Amino acid sequence: MDKLLISGGTPLEGSLRISGAKNAALPILAATLLADEPVTIGNAPHLHDITTMIGLLGCLGAGVVLDEKMCVEVDARNLTNLRAPYDMVKTMRASFLVLGSLLARCGRAEVSLPGGCAIGSRPVDQHIKGFAALGAQIEVVDGYVRGRVKDRLRGAAVQFDVVTVGGTENVMMAASLARGVTTLSNAACEPEIVDLGNFLNAMGARVSGHGTPVITIEGVESLHGCRFRVMPDRVETGTYLVAAAATGGHVRLNATDGSLLGAVLDKLREAGADIDVGEDWIELDMRGRRPRAVDVETQPYPGFPTDMQAQFVALNAIAEGRARITETIFENRFMHVQELNRLGANIGLVDRSTALVSGVDKLKAAPVMATDLRASFSLVVAALAAEGETLIDRIYHIDRGYETIEEKLRQLGASVRRVSAR
Ligand code: EPZ
Repeated sequence: MDKLLISGGTPLEGSLRISGAKNAALPILAATLLADEPVTIGNAPHLHDITTMIGLLGCLGAGVVLDEKMCVEVDARNLTNLRAPYDMVKTMRASFLVLGSLLARCGRAEVSLPGGCAIGSRPVDQHIKGFAALGAQIEVVDGYVRGRVKDRLRGAAVQFDVVTVGGTENVMMAASLARGVTTLSNAACEPEIVDLGNFLNAMGARVSGHGTPVITIEGVESLHGCRFRVMPDRVETGTYLVAAAATGGHVRLNATDGSLLGAVLDKLREAGADIDVGEDWIELDMRGRRPRAVDVETQPYPGFPTDMQAQFVALNAIAEGRARITETIFENRFMHVQELNRLGANIGLVDRSTALVSGVDKLKAAPVMATDLRASFSLVVAALAAEGETLIDRIYHIDRGYETIEEKLRQLGASVRRVSAR
């Protein structure tokens, strides 16, 4: 299992290019199953999760061709298998997103239940509620969600009980080939939903209101081929900005979109960073200063994203003052706290959803272990700011969501080495 060895204490300086968004590329790849013609997706990030999704599309019988620039061409004309097996879904929950497309296009499908994961139980009841409203017969048998559609899905009004990104995406995909109009209320407004809606429309779907809590989808008979470019990764962007802020650095991130990061940039400014935003770049300057502590409460978009919570816990760990961090989206997303404390942080958990961080003057290197994707990067942030050499174990979690992490960090002047243990 690979580990990352980071020698901390150097402010991050320089520029780098932000990758395409993992959380937009995954649903978009799932949506390629809806098309009757080949579809080409550009700017897909080179990540384990994307490889898993491509493997799943192949397993369903789609032809997938990948070029060296990570342009993915998917030809889903002749699907041969409508079952997404447990082995694939258990390694990545987003595999469940193929269910909506398969039901709409093929009229039946079987997808393994994703089960729990490190950050909480993460049920899929809202996805199922949406499919049932569109007329699919859904049963859960032997750990698989089995869906059948008589004739064709029918448009319906779906009111989600909780704001769910994956649920909104899955039902949007299904509704795009349904007969009649579907309205999704209490829909998620995340930019990745907007990207998916734009992609569906590029294939000939009629989606409107994406990016607001009410999405309307007029079903069409079929979807055609198109070329589409995935949006920039706002979480990768925010993560490198936090890493720069925590080390007192100065970075410019290119090929990104500052308009997607309002809540995160506000918090970084509150922490004392100078931030400039251009059309497709963001520059952050901390000028060697220590950050000030900032309270954070996670909320659905446009609120502060849960996927940036762990990184802000790390930032607060070396900040001046005390901060309260409240996690409202996932029930168990503070696994990084214990590991950060191993590096000398002073963080207490008030309960499962609240952490109190008292900033310390200095963090000190220690061996630590990554527990989930974003939690792993909070350890990287802390290690970059700490004195000495930190060894981070189980970094396969990082490789699921951060493209070429050591190269990118080295580009910013960090001393980082991957240690492969056999
Ligand atoms: C997406 O997960 C992202 N994953 C997550 O990113 C992100 O943290 C999350 O949205 C929230 O922004 C992808 O896009 C691939 P949800 P998703 O459905 O869709 C509850 C990362 O690190 N819920 O919006 O699975 C659920 O338990 C990952 O990149 C139900 O109760 O999240 C959670 O508490 C991690 N029933 C809340 O809703 C359902 O049917 C939000 O989950 C569905 C969800």
